[in-house]
Amino acid sequence: MKVMLFPGTFDPFTRGHRDIARRAAKLCDVLYVAVMENSAKTPLFTLDEREDLIRKSLAGDGLDNIKVMKWDGLMVDLYTKLDCCAVVRGIRSESDFRYEAEMALANRLLHPGYDAVLLPCRDDLSLISSTIVKEVGFYGGDISKMVPAEIIDVVKDKFKKGRKQ
Ligand code: PNS
Repeated sequence: MKVMLFPGTFDPFTRGHRDIARRAAKLCDVLYVAVMENSAKTPLFTLDEREDLIRKSLAGDGLDNIKVMKWDGLMVDLYTKLDCCAVVRGIRSESDFRYEAEMALANRLLHPGYDAVLLPCRDDLSLISSTIVKEVGFYGGDISKMVPAEIIDVVKDKFKKGRKQ
């Protein structure tokens, strides 16, 4: 059975992430979308909230080979535990490619069987990032073209609460 892993901070899950998940699910028998921590980032949403947003975003797709989970640890440990054949990551730009190549190299040092599949993102989604969603959302801008419709209200609520504090 071909198992792939789509890891990320997903703070929050975007339309770009959803597109990668949908396409990656066609390349394997089971795709695990795993919410993780990135030590270089301070997420707005908790691990549980991010996991919930992904479940809501993918619920209507009927893709029963996608499983959503959270993982607080090294990616290669989850990769080994799930017996993955590859990690899937979306790339939007040259700088994404460099970051992914470095991460793949580091992960291969930790786990020689590690491999990665890099999917170029759809051009109409190439400017979307969780960082842009947070920047626009923080100032009350329209994020409806950036995040899946199923989670717009929850994401907007988080910004509203954040501004009140
Ligand atoms: O969405 P992001 O922030 O680009 O995802 C990065 C992520 C979460 C996949 C990466 O930081 C990660 O793998 N975190 C888990 C800890 C780990 O294994 N770090 C080593 C990566 S070389």
